[in-house]
Order: sequence, then C-alpha cells, then structure tokens
Amino acid sequence: MPNKPTPVIFDCDPGHDDAIALLLALASPELHLLGVVTSYGNQTLAKTTVNALRLLQFAGRADIPVAVGAAQPLQRALEVAAHVHGESGLDGPALPPLATQPASQDAVAFTAQLIRSAAQPVTLVPTGPLTNLARYLAAHGTAGIARVVLMGGAIAEGNMTPAAEFNIWCDPEAAAQVFASGLDITMIGLDVTHKALLGPAVEAQLRSAGRVGTFVAELNVFFSVYHKHTYGWDGAPIHDAVAMAHVIRSGLVETRARNVEIETASELCRGRTVVDLWRRTNRAPNAHVGVDLNAPAFFELLVERITRLG
Ligand code: BDR
Ligand code: CA
Repeated sequence: MPNKPTPVIFDCDPGHDDAIALLLALASPELHLLGVVTSYGNQTLAKTTVNALRLLQFAGRADIPVAVGAAQPLQRALEVAAHVHGESGLDGPALPPLATQPASQDAVAFTAQLIRSAAQPVTLVPTGPLTNLARYLAAHGTAGIARVVLMGGAIAEGNMTPAAEFNIWCDPEAAAQVFASGLDITMIGLDVTHKALLGPAVEAQLRSAGRVGTFVAELNVFFSVYHKHTYGWDGAPIHDAVAMAHVIRSGLVETRARNVEIETASELCRGRTVVDLWRRTNRAPNAHVGVDLNAPAFFELLVERITRLG
C-alpha cells in the first residue's frame, strides 16, 4: 500500500529555482500541494505573486490557491535580486498572460486555514525569506506543522555577502525566530545546493522532454548567465528544487542534526547561519543541516518528473 501524499504548503518568491521547485512538486505524487504563499525576495511581492499565478496557469494547475504574503522583511529594508532573476523575477521564457487572482485571505490566515483543515500535519517548504513563516508562528504557533524544509543559509559560504545566503540575509530576525521555534527544521543551504548545478547535459534532456521541459531549460539559460559571470560555472544551482526534492525522496540529501544560530547583531555577518558542524558548543541541535547531495540521483528525479508534465 503506497504512503499517503505528504500535504505541503510552498512559500516562495519565484524566482527561477522557485519555479522549478513548484513544477517538481506538481509532478510528484508523493506530495499534495495544498497551496502556495508568496513573498518578496527575488523581486517585489507584486511580481513574485504574478509569477506564481502564471506558473500554475502554465502548468494547468490554476486550481491550486495562491495567497499573498510579506511585502518586506520584519525590520530591514527591502532589497530584491533583480541582478540574478531579472526585472520580472522570472526573466527568460514567456508565460501566459495573467488570468487568475490570488486568494482574498492574506498568507497567515490562508496558511492557518489550510493547516486547520488538513487531515494530517503539514510540511512547509519555504524557499524565500522567512518572513511569512515568522509571522505565522507569532500568530498561530507550531501546532499542525509536521516539519519545515527550507532553502536558506550555508555552513561555510555566502552568496548575498561573503557571510550570508540571500534568503536568510533578507530577514535575519525572521530566520532567528524560525530556528528558535522548536519545529523540526531541515536547512538546505548553499553547501548542498551549489552541488545541484543544472548544466548543459541535463538542460538538453529537459529541452527534449516536452513543453514544460523546454520551459525549464529556458529558465536555466537565463539563470546560468549570472552564475557564469559570478562563479565561472557552466550551469545554475537550482537551490529551491533541492529542498522540494528532499521532501519527495529522503536520501538524496545527507543531513546532520546540528545547532544553527542566526547572526542578527553584526552588519558584516548579517544573516549568517552559524552552524555548529563540529560540535564546538553544548548548544542543542535545532536543525537537520544538509551537508551533501547525490546530484546524479537528484537530476534523474527532476528530469523524470518534469517529463511527466508533458
Ligand atoms: C536563494 O535565493 C534566491 O535567489 C533563490 O531563489 C534561492 O531561494 C539562493 O540563495
Ligand atoms: Ca527562492
């Protein structure tokens, strides 16, 4: 008897890699995507929300509700990543014009209602700043949440600054609240996602895998430009899809239970995820921290699932 699909709420800021994560979720019978909430991040909230709605339309899944989330961090000034994701937040391939509307509830009320009406505890997958989740926890607490599998942070590097990854850097106060919540948290950080480089061979496979595959290949073409320029890589790290894949299939990402604290005081190290990898303190583990990825198996899963979407 197969397991019941895992109920999931996807909290995102699409975003090329958020878009690929969403398509991966839609193609995966292991998941039941209850809804999508949007956040500022890769672009403004207005743009990421339009992108989420248009992606669902494109995939023929406009039945999945989308709720509008945070427009800015809890305390910090808004900054977006147009230099990585373009003016629309999803530059590159064309999407159908917007023909749907977000839900009338805001993200916190929407999430509360989905969690309340779910038959089992819900898995949250945030792949943008953690503002929506921090607000939700402040209002409703942790009941009904099975676990959080987030893309953010890093053990040993940064991409927004030398010290910090973009999602955590955007709203370190929100991230600190989430990591202190006592929830079962898995942190899929840059140490892992930089191993998920979608290069020319996989891009060619996707391009020949139908309409959605061609779309993902075109997303990757745009997303790769920044990474070629910045890192000299022949491909783009599709960070957020790794977090989604970890919910679909455990074992692709190797994790260790470790303590993670978020730096909020210093400007130099703002948003650093201080991971006690070598257990240099007595602080109790509060997260499963990704340390490695089986990249060939991850890409095999991705291509197989995107191909299903036709
Ligand atoms: C993260 O930041 C965003 O630009 C990506 O969508 C991903 O969630 C990587 O640091
Ligand atoms: Ca993202």
